[in-house]
Amino acid sequence: MSERTQVAIVGAGPAGLVLGHLLHAHGIDAVVLETRDRDYVQKRVRAGVLEQGTVELLIDMGVGERLQREGLVHRGLELRYRREGHRIPLSDLTGGRGITIYGQQHVVHDLIEARLGFGGPLLFEVGDVSLHDFDGDRPRVRFVHDGAAHELECDFIAGCDGFHGISRESMPDGAFTTFEHVYPYAWLGILAQVSPSTEELIYCRHENGFALHSLRSPELSRLYLQCDPGEDISEWSDDRIWHELQTRFATNEGWTLDEGPVLEKLITPMRSFVVDPMQYGRLFLAGDAAHVVPATGAKGLNLAVHDVKALAAALRAHYESGSE
Ligand code: APR
Repeated sequence: MSERTQVAIVGAGPAGLVLGHLLHAHGIDAVVLETRDRDYVQKRVRAGVLEQGTVELLIDMGVGERLQREGLVHRGLELRYRREGHRIPLSDLTGGRGITIYGQQHVVHDLIEARLGFGGPLLFEVGDVSLHDFDGDRPRVRFVHDGAAHELECDFIAGCDGFHGISRESMPDGAFTTFEHVYPYAWLGILAQVSPSTEELIYCRHENGFALHSLRSPELSRLYLQCDPGEDISEWSDDRIWHELQTRFATNEGWTLDEGPVLEKLITPMRSFVVDPMQYGRLFLAGDAAHVVPATGAKGLNLAVHDVKALAAALRAHYESGSE
């Protein structure tokens, strides 16, 4: 591997991989460094709702083939309260826009295949990643790969290494301000092996708390219950979870919620976090490295993609016209 590139990208999540792809399309070299192994990142189940802008970008980038084949397009959603459903026809209200259900792990898988397909450098299982000299014009990234120490010189570093990555913490004290809000509730989410009881998402308000019926595929349902952030998941048996879901989703029209084996259950606290600015010298943060939003809006993955779209355009302007 050449020890010099134009943009060193730290992290092979949606942000890092989309950035690598956009830069390649603009004729800009990049090396992507990822701490985990390929199988792990391709199987990690996380977000799954793609907004119209994200879908269009992935298709334009030439990585939307499987997404168009397997993604479930939703043109509306249901708001349910006082035991009654009210459909909001999103597409009719927005000139035809919609959302697509397609797991983040599939997006990551498709992008990795595309990157390796054109021979784009992408190193998995790198260790001891550290960022240097990004306050000048010759930043460097040090890391260990296959037991050997490397030093990669570059023009820019893109910190796409998620909320727990090292990029944000590599910025000097006082380089950014952090804004954070922790919400007084959490979501207990389950992944269940049962066909969704609805074709569109149901956002339900109930005196016991909010509930959401989402899905991941025609065979997998994703359901959430609002709960207290201090609750202990071990006190929520599968039976108790289904009983509470049945209670909150019940309607006067006799709608039924089908139950199935619970494959995963987790309590997720709700937090908003953002740093400003997202740049220090030649180090730029993108995606979860710079901001996290509560799962309620299904926004994190889409924001990450939007960040790197803006960053790629700026880097392109820099290389084409010298713009700082
Ligand atoms: N060096 C290299 N890679 C790292 C390092 C490091 N020091 N630390 C973390 N990583 C990797 C992680 O293993 C992960 O694959 O960086 C990647 C970051 O990816 P994500 O956490 O998925 O973050 P991002 O690409 O910003 O994606 C947006 O928003 O709401 C969420 O679910 C959504 O995860 C998605 C995120």
